Amino acid sequence: MEQQPNQPSPENIMKIGTGFWASKILLTAVSFQLFTRLAEMKTMSAKDIKHLLGLNCTDRNVHDFLDALTAFGFLTRSGILDTATYSNTVDTDTFLDKNKPSYIGGLLEMLNNRLYGFWGNLGEGLLTGLPQNETKNSEDFFGLIYQDPEKLKEFTGAMSGIQMGNFMAFAQKFDFTKYKTLIDVGGSAGLLSVMVATYNPAMRCTTFDLPPVEPIASATIQKFGLTDRVNAASGNFFSVPIPHADVVVMGNILHDWDEQNKIVLMQKAYDALPADGAFIAIENIIDDERKQNVFGMMMSLNMLIETGTGFDYTFADFNRWAKIVGFKSTSLLQLTGPSSAAIAYK
Ligand SMILES: C[S@@+](CC[C@H](N)C(=O)[O-])C[C@H]1O[C@@H](n2cnc3c(N)ncnc32)[C@H](O)[C@@H]1O
Repeated sequence: MEQQPNQPSPENIMKIGTGFWASKILLTAVSFQLFTRLAEMKTMSAKDIKHLLGLNCTDRNVHDFLDALTAFGFLTRSGILDTATYSNTVDTDTFLDKNKPSYIGGLLEMLNNRLYGFWGNLGEGLLTGLPQNETKNSEDFFGLIYQDPEKLKEFTGAMSGIQMGNFMAFAQKFDFTKYKTLIDVGGSAGLLSVMVATYNPAMRCTTFDLPPVEPIASATIQKFGLTDRVNAASGNFFSVPIPHADVVVMGNILHDWDEQNKIVLMQKAYDALPADGAFIAIENIIDDERKQNVFGMMMSLNMLIETGTGFDYTFADFNRWAKIVGFKSTSLLQLTGPSSAAIAYK
């Protein structure tokens, strides 16, 4: 029977309600490095996968796991059950094979290891307005995370994973012809600077972050062979002035902080720019009507979990802050998926 347009349907409710099942199947596959192993072996039977991953469940459990991944579009399968063989799809081969530079699984690893558990306390976060991560009893999120070398590595890997596509798009779409220098403030592993330098041979870039991050950024710059045009610097952006550059970028920085600190950081960016310089925030800018960019709104709740006071924002919000700081004009450049570059011109 065909469903009438206005008839109630439980479909969306059930899909979202069980969403964590789907999410956990993918995150578990990434944590087992299933896609990396399949990239090496090309094709494997369920029995081989079971053996390689050291799974002690029934064959039926293994088939359910692999066939669900197939139904989601993350594996391809020929044959069925005992005769089935599995391979990566183009997407998982490109983005979830750890041995490729296009790997974005760092974010998924962090989702599995940290945020899956912390999001279990979303209700408590909403009831109290307090962060729900390791910093429940501490103020300094980055200081605490960066004390642990494994967490530092995981966090910078996650940042690279979530922003890789945006940085590549930004490096190619933004018109750099008027500019010579760029500083990426809170640049994490240095990926944005490396992408801008790769696609714009006249640009010189500095990636700036807290001291524990500097060796990781230096290693990225070295890996891409860009030491002549990209350098890593460190400092606390609240206690030192931002070094001068024609373009100041902040990728997912403003969303970490409350409104007052957002404006402080935009003011510091303004002060670092020459006349006609540009400040750029690369974030999941929420649509002004707050109806479309659901990822931006979920990211904003993620900031409640991670920082307590941080939040994602609309372009209208960005415009208001840019005006307070004194920028002349603004524009919005769409990047990948839910992400954009909000640009303010001095
Ligand atoms: C959410 S991450 C964003 C990383 C990267 N820009 C991106 O778009 O993926 C925030 C970054 O800001 C850096 N950061 C936080 N507080 C800082 C401070 N006071 N001074 C300098 N960097 C800071 C962190 O180390 C981290 O790399």
